[in-house]
Amino acid sequence: MKKFLVIGNPIEHSLSPKLHNYWIKSNNLKAVYDKKKLEISELENLIKEVKEKKIDGINVTVPFKNSVIPFLDKLSNEAQKTQSVNTIYLRDGMVIGHNTDIEGFELAIKNTNYDIVGKNILILGAGGVSPSIIVALNNMNVKKIFISNRTQSKAENLKKTFNEIEIIEWGTTPDFDMVINATSLGLKKNENIILDYSKISSEQFFYDVIYNPSETNFLQSARKNGNRTENGKKMFLYQAQASFKIWNNLDPQVDEKVMELLN
Ligand code: ATR
Repeated sequence: MKKFLVIGNPIEHSLSPKLHNYWIKSNNLKAVYDKKKLEISELENLIKEVKEKKIDGINVTVPFKNSVIPFLDKLSNEAQKTQSVNTIYLRDGMVIGHNTDIEGFELAIKNTNYDIVGKNILILGAGGVSPSIIVALNNMNVKKIFISNRTQSKAENLKKTFNEIEIIEWGTTPDFDMVINATSLGLKKNENIILDYSKISSEQFFYDVIYNPSETNFLQSARKNGNRTENGKKMFLYQAQASFKIWNNLDPQVDEKVMELLN
């Protein structure tokens, strides 16, 4: 029986077990996928269990995507560049940290059929997920990436790795084609993001990494303004699909049934 885990803190609301267990069942695999709430001091011992083959794979979520790195033997290029690990597995006796959020975001955008090549993108937030989005956007050949974060020093830190990004003051609205909410604002019902709608036309695309709630105030205001919107559900599905593929050597289906599982 293979054993997989998602670790984070908090973890109660993670939909990864539901999704992975569905795929495990539909592919007739002998495996189980659990969630585990951890303290940072427990990371090292848990990773050892991967080395000892007691655990076959781990998904890492907030707040451990970076803090797990010292306990791994090797990082993939994607994990190295973003300093963010969401997928752990054993290969040739080494515990590897990889990042499938990049692939998840790329596939989600491709799935929307939005023609992102040559576009100006505004990312709101310089937290854990932003490096993955930057790498994905660069892979998809966008023209320019603006970053705006409440705490500007965090945006400046990102610029040390991604010199091509331009920092925009929090609360100002530059000229963009697509805006991505990569903050945690919107997880709670009453949270809003201030944008100057007089500078926004209905051609602009609004993307939110958040998928629960399925429509944040950020997306709702945009929809009412006539803009195209997309939440983070497909990104979540595709990052999970990529992890599943690495661990089980199988490509699980992302179809309507799977989409409904997460409603
Ligand atoms: P971390 O900051 O630890 O990486 P995260 O969940 O990955 O945590 O990121 C949270 C993001 O949401 C950050 O960009 C954060 O902005 P700060 O860097 O200024 O903290 C942003 N965020 C959270 N609450 C916010 C708020 N009330 N107003 C503006 N931005 C907020």
